[in-house]
Amino acid sequence: MRSSYCGLVNETFDGQIVTLMGWAHRRRDHGGVIFIDLRDREGVVQVVCDPDRPEMFKTAEGVRGEFCLKVVGKVRQRMAGTENANLASGRVEVLCHDLEVLNPSVTPPFQLDDDNLSETVRLTHRVLDLRRPQMQKNLMLRYRVAMEVRKFLDANGFVDIETPMLTKSTPEGARDYLVPSRVHDGQFFALPQSPQLFKQLLMVAGFDRYYQITKCFRDEDLRADRQPEFTQIDIETSFLTEEEIRAMFEGMIRSVFRNAMGVELPVYPVMPYSEAMFKYGSDKPDLRVKLEFTELTDVMKDVDFKVFSGPATTPGGRVVALRVPGGAEISRGEIDAYTEFVKIYGAKGLAWIKVNDVAKGRDGLQSPIVKNLHDAAIGEILARTGACNGDLLFFGADKSKVVNDAIGALRLKVGHSEFGKKNGLFEDKWAPLWVVDFPMFEYDEGEDRWNACHHPFTSPKDGHEQLMATDPGACVAKAYDMVLNGWELGGGSIRIHRADVQSKVFEALKISEEDQRIKFGFLLDALQYGAPPHGGLAFGLDRLITLMTKAESIRDVIAFPKTQRAQCLLTGAPSNVDEKQLRELHIRLRNAQPAAS
Ligand code: AMO
Ligand code: AMP
Repeated sequence: MRSSYCGLVNETFDGQIVTLMGWAHRRRDHGGVIFIDLRDREGVVQVVCDPDRPEMFKTAEGVRGEFCLKVVGKVRQRMAGTENANLASGRVEVLCHDLEVLNPSVTPPFQLDDDNLSETVRLTHRVLDLRRPQMQKNLMLRYRVAMEVRKFLDANGFVDIETPMLTKSTPEGARDYLVPSRVHDGQFFALPQSPQLFKQLLMVAGFDRYYQITKCFRDEDLRADRQPEFTQIDIETSFLTEEEIRAMFEGMIRSVFRNAMGVELPVYPVMPYSEAMFKYGSDKPDLRVKLEFTELTDVMKDVDFKVFSGPATTPGGRVVALRVPGGAEISRGEIDAYTEFVKIYGAKGLAWIKVNDVAKGRDGLQSPIVKNLHDAAIGEILARTGACNGDLLFFGADKSKVVNDAIGALRLKVGHSEFGKKNGLFEDKWAPLWVVDFPMFEYDEGEDRWNACHHPFTSPKDGHEQLMATDPGACVAKAYDMVLNGWELGGGSIRIHRADVQSKVFEALKISEEDQRIKFGFLLDALQYGAPPHGGLAFGLDRLITLMTKAESIRDVIAFPKTQRAQCLLTGAPSNVDEKQLRELHIRLRNAQPAAS
């Protein structure tokens, strides 16, 4: 029926008769000549309708936005001066011979080229929103990336094996989405938070190299980089070391960027977790921002300033400076705004020093806090930060977590600001890295217990097995994350394949034997049958595409996403169900809803 996509018609078609199908993107009536921009997934081409073909012209007069059309016409060069350099088809146009309305459209609720639409409008009318060229590009790239991933994994001997969606709770630590069982009164399936346990079973079963591009479900607080239902590129392999796994999957992401986008990623730095927290206060540092923390905890122990000496002398406290080169030009008003900003992260304030003249020491500084600091401390601050004239130093003092969160966020905020970009504190580039050597456990103060940082099947570093009992906080895991531009793109670990090590982890986590059996009995049993050494990782496909497209939100790279409130505005899910369905599922609602509409 069709001879070409609209968006692919270019000068090489000059003089040819083409048959095109697409949607009326725009229609302009220039009194006597009608121009229709005809759009399909590959782009737009200009169609010219002259009145000298009266029947066709009459049809053209009736065309409105989003009508579905068939055009037969002759490709010709556009008149000099009317070319459009922004379009692949911008040097040519199609002189319409025949025009057929395949299907009219009611008036759309918005103009497709309106860039200021609210997300509510876009998600409610998602079908029309998806017709927008940018959305088409995003989803096409998503497809290309998935294809490149499959090609790479296939070439490396990985096999795609499906795992169940109706299953038992998995150990990723978020809240489960539950599905009631009709057949088993009072019992529930959980939708998988990841295929973690099944992929480990597949290793025990001898499949050796597994992958799956699959949905995962997590009922957690949503942010710009999170969806309740998202897609993982999930991978597991036997008999590879941590370094071999990292090398292979760095290669995969590299080949995806090269083949789907023509981008050559730089070499990945490998950074221990402790260094990332020390320098950036984050386990996913955005290395495009060229600001680093300066550690001052030891310096502030004996100053006569409680704000600093308190945290410096309290176990688990931390004092750092963030040196902002050229920051002396930041106004008091802006500093106040930054002070409010860090409060979001629990900081109680934001001390600062403007460095006017380093050579003058104390007298060359402008600050509300220098009067509280003795000379040695001031000397040490200036020396360690490497402060220069015209710099601004910010300070954070609190529990380590608060300092890391607050000053880490400030680092990004300043780096990404207009000031940061103007002063070379931000470099617009691809900044990937590996963060390795994560701790095995993190302490939950509220619950007074240790939790697994990754999941309880993650192996400790060789030689760290004993620490699990004696000093869990010091125990390092064979766990790694791939970070790109400040986002956690993927993460994984080498797994425990021996029952004795596994039981030590459960002891440290205080998971009783009974609970172990109930939750993971099937995995523990399988591990007894000569389980191979194995490990793997999972990438967030949605996050990868969001980064590649530089989309503002993860929702812009998912065809039918959920809102921040975990709803689908298109279908209206979640929604009430009728009483009969509930009864079949043995469910009575605590707060009875109005009857299903
Ligand atoms: P993890 O929980 O780190 O590891 O998840 C792996 C990757 O999945 C992505 N991701 C998300 N993307 C969008 N919305 C979400 N709510 C969301 N949650 C996670 C991230 C993350 O890096 N089974 C382990 C992997 C393993 O050990 O092999 C796991 O699921 O990009
Ligand atoms: P104050 O002594 O409360 O008036 O604070 C003096 C300066 O220290 C102000 O600039 C505060 O913003 C700052 N400040 C207060 N608490 C902290 C903190 N925990 N970390 C960093 N700076 C702080």
